[in-house]
Amino acid sequence: MIKSLRGMNDILSEDYERFTYFIKIATNVAQRYGFHFIETPLLEETALFKRSVGESSDIVGKEMYQFIDKGDNDVCLRPEGTAGVVRAFIQKKLDKAGGIHRYFYHGSMFRYERPQKGRLRQFHQFGVESFGVDSVYEDAAMIMMVSDILKELGIGYRLQLNSLGDNNCMPSYRTKLINFVKECKDDICKDCTRRLDTNPIRVLDCKNEKCQTLYKNAPKLLNCLCDSCEDDFTSLKKILQNNGIEYEIDTNLVRGLDYYSKTAFEFVSDNIGSQSAIAGGGRYDKLVEFLDGRPTPAVGFAMGIERLMELIVMPKRSREGYYIGAMDEEAIDIVMSLAHKKRKTDKVIIDYKAKNFKNHIKNADKVGVKYFCIIGSNEIQSGNITIKNLDDKTEQIIKHEEF
Ligand code: HAM
Repeated sequence: MIKSLRGMNDILSEDYERFTYFIKIATNVAQRYGFHFIETPLLEETALFKRSVGESSDIVGKEMYQFIDKGDNDVCLRPEGTAGVVRAFIQKKLDKAGGIHRYFYHGSMFRYERPQKGRLRQFHQFGVESFGVDSVYEDAAMIMMVSDILKELGIGYRLQLNSLGDNNCMPSYRTKLINFVKECKDDICKDCTRRLDTNPIRVLDCKNEKCQTLYKNAPKLLNCLCDSCEDDFTSLKKILQNNGIEYEIDTNLVRGLDYYSKTAFEFVSDNIGSQSAIAGGGRYDKLVEFLDGRPTPAVGFAMGIERLMELIVMPKRSREGYYIGAMDEEAIDIVMSLAHKKRKTDKVIIDYKAKNFKNHIKNADKVGVKYFCIIGSNEIQSGNITIKNLDDKTEQIIKHEEF
């Protein structure tokens, strides 16, 4: 038997209901914030992710589904959504047009990670990207949007917040950090030794306990921010406080993608095990320029749908639609015509075989319809149909033409 690949799941039945329910809620919230849908290809040039997510990141360095296609192009399945949206934004010359552009998207992302609970190789994200707003109010709006979506889904969370500085303050901080880590370089793990050359900031979220102990007294970026970054971070915290959004400051939150500056945030859940990040995002003011567009401030986030599906509190399902069953062979044609008519406006489930009342009502109950009708020789002769409401158990008799 051929099975799905490791870390790649089918979504069906109850899971599919959760999935579509999530998309519905998240889409509604994003539209309320003035965001528009965007769809970008699953396959992009590998160079796009190398330049944006960064060659030193685990995502690009270890986890890409990368191959040479039949036309000799170096391509890969997208590991995340931001890079493709930025490419589309520049390709459509929206950077040159100026103004504010806000997009949301959802779809499959691919990362060749070691699969475990909550960590897949093909997973789904819901994300938003906002271009053209440099105000920190937009950063706050992103966080509020995630919070609104999670609240509507009945999901509790902890919000972790950090500022990654900008081109003014980050370089001198980086030098300070490198000097600090070099002091203990004989004791740090292999990954951190590599990071020291490629992307020193990433040492801060090393999962190795020994490294974490060594870095306890490392210089904190939050203490080294320039005035503009400091002001923005202070404003952001104030806006969140004013709007009742609680947060924790995590000075080690650096995110796994290289394009961030200033605001970085992650939403975590304590109820899904070790893969606890349910959403993450931040500001990336340099990325549009870095991908050859006109300098454009930008901020966004993405949520991991599979992780959220574990946590969603589904609303009580209400009965909907009709079940029409035939009692005799000769009634099947009528059932089919009635269903065809009714399906213009309602959901209708039918069975192509004649059955007795007991079997039909059992089927109707199983598929969760609200109205139940059966057609037998009596109904054919009288031209009437009895419609039973399975919620309140009332009955109504109408003519076939009125159905
Ligand atoms: P990210 O933090 O890499 O950010 O991913 C966002 C979310 O996707 C995570 O918080 C997690 O819930 C989910 N996720 C990531 N990897 C996996 C996996 N292997 N299996 C299941 N779920 C996973 C980004 O992707 C950025 N593009 C977010 C962003 C948008 N920043 C600015 N705009």
